[in-house]
This record gives sequence, C-alpha cells and structure tokens, in this order.
Amino acid sequence: MTTYVNLFSSYQLDSLQLSNRAVLSPMTRTSAEPSGEANERMARYYSRFIKGGFGLVITEGIYPDLNSSQSYTNQPGLATAAQAESWKPVVAAVHEAGGKIIAQLMHAGALVQHQGFTPIAPSAVKPVGTMLEDHGGSGEFALPKEMTHADIRQAVDGFAQAALRAKNAGFDGVEIHGANGYLLDQFLTDYTNKRTDEYGGSTERRIRLMVEVLQAIRLAVGPTYTVGVRISQGKVNDFHHKWNNGEQDAEIIFNHIANAKPSYIHTTEYKAWTQAFSNSASTLAGLAKRYSQLPVIANGKLGDPEQAERILKSGEADLVAIGTDALVNPDWVRKVKDGKPLTPFDHSYLHPAATLREEEYTIS
Ligand SMILES: Cc1cc2nc3c(=O)[nH]c(=O)nc-3n(C[C@H](O)[C@H](O)[C@H](O)COP(=O)(O)O)c2cc1C
Repeated sequence: MTTYVNLFSSYQLDSLQLSNRAVLSPMTRTSAEPSGEANERMARYYSRFIKGGFGLVITEGIYPDLNSSQSYTNQPGLATAAQAESWKPVVAAVHEAGGKIIAQLMHAGALVQHQGFTPIAPSAVKPVGTMLEDHGGSGEFALPKEMTHADIRQAVDGFAQAALRAKNAGFDGVEIHGANGYLLDQFLTDYTNKRTDEYGGSTERRIRLMVEVLQAIRLAVGPTYTVGVRISQGKVNDFHHKWNNGEQDAEIIFNHIANAKPSYIHTTEYKAWTQAFSNSASTLAGLAKRYSQLPVIANGKLGDPEQAERILKSGEADLVAIGTDALVNPDWVRKVKDGKPLTPFDHSYLHPAATLREEEYTIS
C-alpha cells in the first residue's frame, strides 16, 4: 500500500493546526433556506467530511451583501445578522467533529441566475456561455450594468462586513472567491473588463479590486485571522480561458495579491498538475508559490491521490482541495489512508440539480 507521506503530514495554516493536507473544495449546493439562512442539513453535510478525515472544509460560495451579490436561488448568505447567526450550528458541528471551516465569500457580478435585481459588473458586457443548469438556470445571462465608483465601494465594504460577520460567527477563516468567472474574476478578465479608469486596462489595474477587497477584509478582521483568495483562469461559463500574457500576468497577479497579505492563495485549474501556460513549465499553483511565497492550496482533479501526493511533494502546493471526488467519497481521506477503493464521480450525480441529496445529510 502506498503511504502518501506528504498527504498525511500535518500542516499549520496561520493558527489552524491541520492533521493532513486534504481540504474540501468549495461547492455550491443551493440548499439553504430561501432567506439565505444556513440550516441543519448543511450542518450535517459539512461535518460529514470532517468525520471522513478532512481537516478543513471550505464552504460553498456565500453572498456577502443584499445589494447585488447573490448568484443563485437558495444560495446561503452572510449579508445579515440572521444569516450569520444561522451559520453558528454549522460551524459548531464541524468543530465538534474536530475540524476547521472557512467561509467562501462570493460576489456574483454578472453571473446572476435569479430574478430580483439587475446584475452589476465591471462593464456592460453580457457573459459568454449559458446559465448553469445544475444550479437551476437556463438560457443566456442578462446584460449587467457597469459599476459606478459608489457600486465598487459598496461591494468592497460588503466583503469586509461579511468577513467580520463570519469571524464573529466562529468561522476559522474566510476565502474570497476571485476565481471561476464571478465578480472579482470579471474585473481581472480582459474581455469582461473594458473600463478606462483605475480598475481597467493593464493587468495591474484589473487585479486592483481583488487587492482592495483583501485589504478591506484585513482591516476588518485583524492581522492574524485566516484570509485566503481563490484564483483561476477558467470560468464556469468559459472553461478554457487563459491569461493573455502567460507567466508575466501570473507574476503581476500573484505579486499584487501577496502585497495585500492574505494567508494563502488557492489556485484552481482543470488538472492542477498541467503547465499553466505554453510559455512556462510551471503549474498555476507553482507560479502562485513562486511569485507570492505564500501557502498555496491546489485544486483540479486531485481526487486521484497519486496526483495529490505528487503536487505536494513537488513543493508547488502545501494543501490540496478535493471537489467532486469528495462528494461521492466524503470519507476520501479515510479511504485513501486505509487503501480502500474510491467511488468514481459521475457528473450525473449533480443532475437534475446540484442540491444536497438525502444521503449527504442523513448518513454520517
Ligand atoms: C456542484 C459544484 C459546485 C461548485 N461551487 C463552487 C463554489 O461555490 N465556489 C468555488 O470556488 N468553486 C466551486 N466549484 C468548483 C470546485 O470547488 C472545484 O474547483 C471543481 O469541482 C474542480 O475540482 P475537482 O476536480 O476536485 O472536482 C463547484 C464545483 C461543483 C462540482
């Protein structure tokens, strides 16, 4: 039996002592109450991964404000005191099981799949692709409104206030969703950001909002609280997007992020171990590590423990986030440790909707 020395070694992330390197990847399950409050089912769902051996879970994307940040119907929020209160039993269940929990804060930007408000975005550019059917959408996205400076300030403040609510609700940290095509990634992406002010144009300007959000959160939660950021090239509505200037962009992006002093960078690629750009031999995780010198979580098909072990051993990542393979193996860590076979993931698991299945909150 393979021993996976790196995967099963402990790790200290800020003040968080983790017993192994496997982390539950953030996954939207749109199973909160219509009010955006978390519920008992979610408490059981998240703690199940800890019981299965994961040391840390990152929640699904949570909307930070009531203005314009919600993407999906039945997505949970951290925008109000009542929503923050509703997370306390979820946090408690994870802690009782012996694990840690980080709240992912996600602003939809243009990727809105429910009625109620006109989406806002860096520019009035209609998103490519179509709405995500797994999360209850269909057809084209709406044309968003270009954000004013007041909208930008409000969004930054929304992230900071939600981070503080998360801290006060007992979460062990927050992660801002700067990846996968949502608001902060829309600012970073050249074809969705056509602004001519200080938030548009060069890569340095397009990463500016992400840096401002990190700085505002730091100010709100203090210097020692765990604050991470997730980054990707691909998007839920454009899988194959690549940063235009390859490694040069990576250097600028990860340098600027590092200057805002987050606790870690979480990179996600389709396959975490493949080279990020044709002009560079490194993975995106490796580039994040090289240019930020921060702890790095790598994600992308690392439910294959051989690949997880390899990227940890290479030093390109410190932790691995497991997504879909964890859904069908909430005890992924235990199984890998014991040399037991893993259940293969099939996308039909998420059809007709990615909402929680009964067995995910009834069987522990
Ligand atoms: C149903 C579902 C929902 C997801 N929701 C989120 C999310 O809310 N935030 C996020 O950063 N990534 C989200 N992702 C992406 C996963 O975190 C992960 O990056 C992706 O599944 C690839 O990892 P894997 O190959 O281990 O599955 C979601 C993925 C799935 C399958």
